[in-house]
Amino acid sequence: MLPKNLKGKMKRGAALLLAGVMVCSFTGCGDKEEKGDTPSLTQGAEPTDDADVTPEATLEPEATPSPEATPTPTEPPKQVRTDFYISAVDEELPSMYEYWEDYFSIGIAITRSELINDLKGDLIIQQFNSMTCGNEMKPDALLDREATKAGGTETCPVLSFKSCDSMLQFCVDNNIKMRGHTLVWHSQTPDWFFMEEYSNKPDAVFASREVMLERMENYIRLVMEYVNTTYPGVVYAWDVVNEAILPGDGGEDNMRMSDSLWYQTVGPDFVEKAFEYARKYADPQQKLFYNDFNTYEPAKRLAILKLVEKLKEQGTIDGIGMQSHIGMSSPTLMDYEDTIRQFGQTGLEIQITELDVNLDSNTEADFMKEGTRYKRLFFTFKNLVDTGAANITNVTIWGLTDENSWLNKDGKRYPLLFNQLLETKPAFWGILMDDGIPLY
Ligand code: GLA
Repeated sequence: MLPKNLKGKMKRGAALLLAGVMVCSFTGCGDKEEKGDTPSLTQGAEPTDDADVTPEATLEPEATPSPEATPTPTEPPKQVRTDFYISAVDEELPSMYEYWEDYFSIGIAITRSELINDLKGDLIIQQFNSMTCGNEMKPDALLDREATKAGGTETCPVLSFKSCDSMLQFCVDNNIKMRGHTLVWHSQTPDWFFMEEYSNKPDAVFASREVMLERMENYIRLVMEYVNTTYPGVVYAWDVVNEAILPGDGGEDNMRMSDSLWYQTVGPDFVEKAFEYARKYADPQQKLFYNDFNTYEPAKRLAILKLVEKLKEQGTIDGIGMQSHIGMSSPTLMDYEDTIRQFGQTGLEIQITELDVNLDSNTEADFMKEGTRYKRLFFTFKNLVDTGAANITNVTIWGLTDENSWLNKDGKRYPLLFNQLLETKPAFWGILMDDGIPLY
């Protein structure tokens, strides 16, 4: 099975005959390619386009002309894309989510302030079928201290969903599903939430473990109840806990300790508790994820595996989120692929939840290399799904344009698929497996 999007490819003028020949050589001449048949990246095979050519048509024997009568055979020239900078505003682009829809959903992390831009909104509708709020569903966006002080109790805070309502509604209106990001996290959770009487004074003291567990349960319940009753069916996955593992930080079982007020108030079982509560209040079809960065670092990978195996035994987890904020050459694709394989062996779903490639140059040559990096990543994902090595169900790109990337604090980062003019970069075409982007 190959990704769809023939319409887009035809528009880009794929040479049918050549594509037929490529299908033939890739699949073993006429064998319909099934999941499991895809050569692995390490074998050096190239992915092919799934042109709308039946194997029979490509294999039809041609009459052998006599040498005298034969004009020099001419093959139609291969039309390979050379212009990778196409305005998403002026031209209709092929859709990434349609291209990959037999494999996994394609997600975008976006902020509310960007989403109100109609051009960006239209591009998102065209290209993505999954969305993550960049900040608007994090605890610091939902926890309302004033309302909590006025109307909450010591164990039950009051939340406000003003930050994310319009984004959830956008998803409803445009048939986009949402990854709920994120429920329990040491970061972007206000300190006062961990203090007795929600105090924000310098002499505030931590609330007890018992109180914090009740606050945690109530917080998870309130978020899930609100989202699931106001926007039923929109959220399909929750990042229940984010970034709890940090080898070397002193926590039990390699858990993050020094800056985690969850660890410090509740103790090392706060992750298990969060998953227990999340399972209790989640809709049955919603998938519960543990999400983390640098998952391919061996010590961290091992600790995550240990944690998720425990959660799996308890029946509270469905998947592992690999954030995947990566560089141009680090991690190596081998280490990255190996990590997905090891996570895949748990039988849990895998989602690539925050993909970006930290390129710090804007030369055309480097943009092409970035395109190659994205193409190889997606080729790897495809291969892992085809071979059954990992059940990858979503790949989310962490941001729409380079200019708005969280990495771009110095104004010199180019990690994403679109530039500030909403033009495609080679990275976009790499994800579409375009022949103009080299795989190596
Ligand atoms: C982490 C978080 C995300 C986001 C990125 C950086 O990966 O999970 O929510 O904050 O950092 O923007």
